[in-house]
Amino acid sequence: MTPDLATRYLGLDLRSPIVASSTPMTGDPATCRLLEDAGAGAVVLPSLFEEEILNEEIELNRSLDAGTEQFGEALSYFPTYDTFKGTGDRYLARLEKTKGLCSIPVIASLNAATPGGWVRYARLMQDAGADALELNLYHVVADPSMTGAEREATDLELIAAVHAAVSIPVAVKLSPYYSALAGFAAGAVAAGADGLVLFNRFYQPDLDLETFDVVNKVALSHPSELRLPLRWIAILRPQLGAGVGLAATSGIHSGADVVKALLVGADVAMTASAVLRGGPEQVRAIREDLVAWMAEREYESVAQMRGSASAAQVADPTAFERANYMATLHSWSTPQDLATS
Ligand SMILES: Cc1cc2nc3c(=O)[nH]c(=O)nc-3n(C[C@H](O)[C@H](O)[C@H](O)COP(=O)(O)O)c2cc1C
Repeated sequence: MTPDLATRYLGLDLRSPIVASSTPMTGDPATCRLLEDAGAGAVVLPSLFEEEILNEEIELNRSLDAGTEQFGEALSYFPTYDTFKGTGDRYLARLEKTKGLCSIPVIASLNAATPGGWVRYARLMQDAGADALELNLYHVVADPSMTGAEREATDLELIAAVHAAVSIPVAVKLSPYYSALAGFAAGAVAAGADGLVLFNRFYQPDLDLETFDVVNKVALSHPSELRLPLRWIAILRPQLGAGVGLAATSGIHSGADVVKALLVGADVAMTASAVLRGGPEQVRAIREDLVAWMAEREYESVAQMRGSASAAQVADPTAFERANYMATLHSWSTPQDLATS
């Protein structure tokens, strides 16, 4: 019997726990359809960045003003506000098109720069048909006068404001760099988050030694990066309860990775790098791996296996906490470890 892969995430019924994470690939509606055909349970669109919209508006104003000052006929060949399709409009049009092509849930992703922007674009995404929203909280707090508590309070206010502004479910994609993550996670849920996506990957800048320029280049992930979300989902699942959606992201490359995420308590496993490398068909390969693993161990459903290795279930819950620091360091024993590290 083929195991039942159905899962529930953010109150949405998904036919599979494998979700295509937010990348440029999911920005193309036809590719989203291929991801659906390959077995994805949902797709998360790339983030709409409010800065892009603001920069574009500044540029548009500049070009319109410059044109009208210099040429009388400029108004006829520069775009007007009505005809100009900016980043925001294009995003919403692609979202609508994706909804038209796909029957799986389509989750829109937002990274705004201002409190008003979070609320405004969240509403527009809902109106364009998004089944849920993923708020991409990505900051590098470099202001020495800002405390962690202040930053967290601002984030919680944003979550509450978006939650109040829309009726679709809201997930929050977090960074792992909160000093007291469990407390922040509980705060996010109290502020109205229906789920958490763990974790955003921070892309660290490099330096070009010839030009001294900062080089920003995305490096795809390695499966070992899954260990951080695994630990935190295992800890948070019993704390937050079954009603809160938990998504694992970072290092989901194979069916075995999806199994691990589900066992510690994730509702879904999101994959980006593996699909960017292998194309939409990679989802099919991951799905087949997952089904084979479950069938071999006679699991009948995802529901049956989810959370069976969370901190509430394992014999030693501290294995996910500080106790395993010492044990892990002491586990280094032989030169063979070099080969597998
Ligand atoms: C090229 C690229 C673009 C991405 N764009 C976004 C984005 O717009 N919004 C977002 O929340 N995450 C974005 N991500 C992060 C992924 O959704 C995912 O969380 C991260 O890559 C970890 O998953 P992985 O290990 O499967 O790659 C992007 C990742 C890559 C590689």
